[in-house]
Amino acid sequence: MRLQLVTWSDVEQYLKQSSGIIIPIGSTEQHGPNGLVGTDALTAELIAQGVGEKTGALVAPTIAVGMAQHHLAFPGSMTLRPSTLIAVVRDNIQSLMRHGFTRFFFVNGHGGNIATVTAAFSEIYAEHSLQRGGNAPSVKCKLRNWWEGPGVKTLSKELYGNQEGSHATPSEVSLTFFMYPHTEKHVAMEPEVAPNGTFADADDYRRNFPDGRIGSNPNLSTAAHGKRFYDVAVEEVARDYLAFTAT
Ligand code: NI
Repeated sequence: MRLQLVTWSDVEQYLKQSSGIIIPIGSTEQHGPNGLVGTDALTAELIAQGVGEKTGALVAPTIAVGMAQHHLAFPGSMTLRPSTLIAVVRDNIQSLMRHGFTRFFFVNGHGGNIATVTAAFSEIYAEHSLQRGGNAPSVKCKLRNWWEGPGVKTLSKELYGNQEGSHATPSEVSLTFFMYPHTEKHVAMEPEVAPNGTFADADDYRRNFPDGRIGSNPNLSTAAHGKRFYDVAVEEVARDYLAFTAT
């Protein structure tokens, strides 16, 4: 159930049987020679909505720009500073807390968000802990990367072996080809499998990874693979959502 497609009284009813909500969070950044700039936001939203349909959970609007300063040397990439993203996550959570939501399950599409979103959760907890007394129900937040379940990892290994890499991966690119089949394309990449390594700021990143990829070969991506990743990820993330909201 998408929050944007229900009425306020539907939400009031929902809160009588659940205080959980799913918040997709991604990024808007380069994804190599054949991956879409919106990959991380699109994939997080797709999986989150699949989980919402499977579990009946409410799904909030997607936070589509994340912490991606290291991608800014590539045209089209956008970032929030870590401090801004912390404020965005906090305001989103606190708006929903006011209505009685207490379980915030973030479906994440971008590794670069993890440290900052986790810091935002600590801010929320600190604010609660610093208030003296009070019997407000405990708030719990969880960040779940769609790619981290054992089923998704096994499928990636089966399809791509050691060519999955860590940025502009064939699994995430396959998911976007599944969503938007007309965007499926394969282009010459040199080397075939991108190098691995580290980066600091945006210029350092582009020097080390000139076409944007890290460790991956996204030419292996297909829409048919994307459907398989979708099915497995929705199954695994839904299971985790239900376990999380049961605590
Ligand atoms: Ni990505």
